[in-house]
Amino acid sequence: MRKCISPRGEVKVSGDKSITHRGFIIGAVARGRSVLRGYSRCQDCVATLKTLRELGIFTEESESTVSIQGKGLGGLTEPDDVLNCENSGTTMRLLAGLLSGQDFFSVLTGDGSLRRRPMSRIIQPLSQMGAEIRARSGGRFAPLSIQGSTLKSIDYTLPVASAQVKSAILLAGLCADGETIVEEPYPTRDHTERMLALFGAKIEKAGERTILRGEDSNLEAKELIVPGDLSSAAYFIVLASLARDSEILLKDVGVNPTRTGILDALEMMGAGISFLNRRTVSNEPVADLMIKSGGLEGREVSGKLIPRLIDEIPVLAVAATQAEGVTVVRDAAELRVKETDRIKAIVKELKKMGAKIEEREDGFTVEGPTRLYGASCSSFGDHRIAIALAIAGLIADGVTTIDGAECIDISFPEFIPTARKVCGEDRLTTQD
Ligand code: S3P
Repeated sequence: MRKCISPRGEVKVSGDKSITHRGFIIGAVARGRSVLRGYSRCQDCVATLKTLRELGIFTEESESTVSIQGKGLGGLTEPDDVLNCENSGTTMRLLAGLLSGQDFFSVLTGDGSLRRRPMSRIIQPLSQMGAEIRARSGGRFAPLSIQGSTLKSIDYTLPVASAQVKSAILLAGLCADGETIVEEPYPTRDHTERMLALFGAKIEKAGERTILRGEDSNLEAKELIVPGDLSSAAYFIVLASLARDSEILLKDVGVNPTRTGILDALEMMGAGISFLNRRTVSNEPVADLMIKSGGLEGREVSGKLIPRLIDEIPVLAVAATQAEGVTVVRDAAELRVKETDRIKAIVKELKKMGAKIEEREDGFTVEGPTRLYGASCSSFGDHRIAIALAIAGLIADGVTTIDGAECIDISFPEFIPTARKVCGEDRLTTQD
């Protein structure tokens, strides 16, 4: 365990990225002016906001709030250019669902990474609903062209556990007659369902099935408070768990049970995490989290836990390098189709730092604890890999450099100042 870093203090991470995307999108098709407080200003969310403006939605931003002048379900207008979703899978997949039910033509594209990510998983169900969607490589990759039309509802079982696919179908279902039903193999984040309910949609859960009655759903504008992003908090939770004499209080963090897999996994490994001041804000569970250092033990992380911590697996790998014994992550092949192949990337880079980590087809195995040494690493242009490596670098001996670390801004632009605040100003430096 690293002996000379003791992160301490109070941290307020920025607003939840998944909830911010949904607030922008659902706000745009509600009637009236919605306001989001504490929203995420990350690049992915900015991409969503820009595309909505190109669809005719008026938005106004201040330091801590965004207001969206929603025009109702039929109020979006045909964009006169291609919509650029940049690096954001959530932007592309959720908008594809929404645009499928709009009576106009649109094209969605993204950066090199997003144009390599699988899109047939949304094209298939949306086409069944009646949308005309074309894509590159026989319908596999963006750009996507969408001719929206009147949609019919479907009863669809997701072949992979994906909140983006579920949300795309539900947003399309807002414009379909009858009941749109989505069944999931394992529960995934349910922010879309919670927010639709808050805005007045007729939506309910029956076990693993979500049922939406689109024709009865009149969405009315709302004022939302966005909780802190647990995926961003997770980096500091791991850091505090691994460092010596640490004590970090993370304020106002979203603790929706479909997202708290990382807390369950770390608690299973022995981490000291306390939930304080639990409450519900804008239909989302929120708490303050107190994290103290503690020795970790290796465990298996698999099955239905995986969708509940899918974005936290790179930093979980860092935690596993310091845990006593073997940690195995399985059933996580979805990581191979994220912004980069996250299994390959984290295994390769942590190996450079001295970790005993081996790739599996659907995850990895880590033997710990091992001392980590500073190394020259690559982010692969992936924000979650870059930040996980920064945490590894903070507990390693010597200097770690991370190439392409500017991608951190894609999800967590406040990461470096926040890490400096709790670890000391001289711990992280940036170079152009
Ligand atoms: C997200 C869903 C997850 C997650 C992504 C955000 C969302 O993706 O990895 O970062 O906001 O719906 P999948 O739906 O592909 O699992």
